[in-house]
Amino acid sequence: WVLRQRQVLDSTADKNNKKLWSQLIATVDQCTLCSLHESRTQTVFGVGRRDADLLIIGEAPGAEEDRKGEPFVGRAGQLLDAMLASVGFIRNDVYIANILKCRPPNNRDPLPNEVELCEPYLKTQLSIINPKLIVALGRVSACTILKTKESLKNLRNQTFQYQGIDLLVTYHPAALLRNPNFKKPAWEDFQMIRDKYLIQD
Ligand code: URA
Repeated sequence: WVLRQRQVLDSTADKNNKKLWSQLIATVDQCTLCSLHESRTQTVFGVGRRDADLLIIGEAPGAEEDRKGEPFVGRAGQLLDAMLASVGFIRNDVYIANILKCRPPNNRDPLPNEVELCEPYLKTQLSIINPKLIVALGRVSACTILKTKESLKNLRNQTFQYQGIDLLVTYHPAALLRNPNFKKPAWEDFQMIRDKYLIQD
């Protein structure tokens, strides 16, 4: 009986989450809270499993992402896929989202008011996905959500908390494209992430 009750509760929670999730998608899709809606082709909500153990957070969509409506589909995204594949994952095993859901013109950094208006969407995504771990890609993404000005060097190899969930910081794949020397330490970060958080024992 207890097991049955648990299953009923789980499926009710899942139905609620499903409903919240589709409401959130619709809200983001129609969002006009900041001026980025004027220049976007479309919003970029996120991609992957709604119950993923790992949530990967980037900064904001670039030109390709704005065109396709999916995060990390340009050159940096292909490298992110390769990094994930090197530790045995595909993008649909995890969840990938950006802090901003719309592309900033000329790929400039997110502005504080854009972050203030858009971050609640990310927080809602996070509360529904409830992952074991968040990985922030790059200094801008990490500093924006952690409200800090630390260097990437200081941010790596530390465990932070965001909305009560462990958060680690690694290189942005675009940085790896600019400087291939960062590939090895980034790969080591992903191996550590897999071993520490994603392999069930
Ligand atoms: N860079 C990001 O931070 N996010 C994307 O979706 C693409 C490139």
